[in-house]
Amino acid sequence: MAKIISGTAMAAQLRADLSVSVERFVAEKGIVPKLAVVLVGNDPASEIYVRRKILECRKVGMESLQFRYGSDCGESELLELIARLNADPAVHGILVQLPLPPSIDSSKVLDAIDPRKDVDGFHPVNVGRLSTGTGGLIPCTPMGCLLLLQSEIPDFKGKKAVVIGKSNIVGKPVALLLLEQECTVTICHIYTRDLASICRQADVIVVAAGSPGLVRGDWVKPGAVVIDVGINRIVDEVGGTRIVGDAVSEELDHAGAYTPVPGGVGPMTIACLLLNTFKAASSLARGEASAG
Ligand code: GUN
Repeated sequence: MAKIISGTAMAAQLRADLSVSVERFVAEKGIVPKLAVVLVGNDPASEIYVRRKILECRKVGMESLQFRYGSDCGESELLELIARLNADPAVHGILVQLPLPPSIDSSKVLDAIDPRKDVDGFHPVNVGRLSTGTGGLIPCTPMGCLLLLQSEIPDFKGKKAVVIGKSNIVGKPVALLLLEQECTVTICHIYTRDLASICRQADVIVVAAGSPGLVRGDWVKPGAVVIDVGINRIVDEVGGTRIVGDAVSEELDHAGAYTPVPGGVGPMTIACLLLNTFKAASSLARGEASAG
């Protein structure tokens, strides 16, 4: 029987540890770590994510600020806000919830964030640091995936990982993090041929394809670990809706371990955002040129 890796439990432990660190930091420095969250438009999923992020900041003793704009918000308005937040010494982390409306150039906005406050790890400086293994702030979902994997696999040397999905938010940074751990990494995507046979060789599969039921049981080697980043809302047999991942969890009994959906990677993403906000506040307080 495969082990189910609980992201909910690991995230709760991370939050408990972080609460202690935050309390000590506030007592010693007199600074409360603060996250600014920017939400543009009214995408219902983004609304839920932002609400959770703000709630969880409070849970660990950190502060947050929320900035909301309509979908008609102009790029220059957003850039002015980022400039203000960059210059505000009381703000340590800046998060612009994606996706932004199509009229706004997302990379222009993300590139304007001070890399030291870039708690999403999306700024080119942090992307570059990750790719060269020289610190910086690491994207939250990939960091969560690595922590979940490390709870099962302490040493990745000699292991083979397959990452399905090549997004800048998950696939590419997960692959870089695993490579940094000396893992042999294959990145697959929509044009990859014979994905099943590539997966069958893997000790680790990280799937972030947004495709419900993509990874079947017979794609997974006995004992392999599957990290499922997919969050897909599907209509079930009786007309209700259900959240499922990209792997068919009912077919993973022979795996070594896998993450459930929900309750796997999702809670870890927010816990890692809190960690990044604390890291950013700590390194800004030390006057360092980069966090992480
Ligand atoms: N939208 C979906 N995932 C993310 C994320 O990790 N960060 C931000 N800023 N927006 C997102």
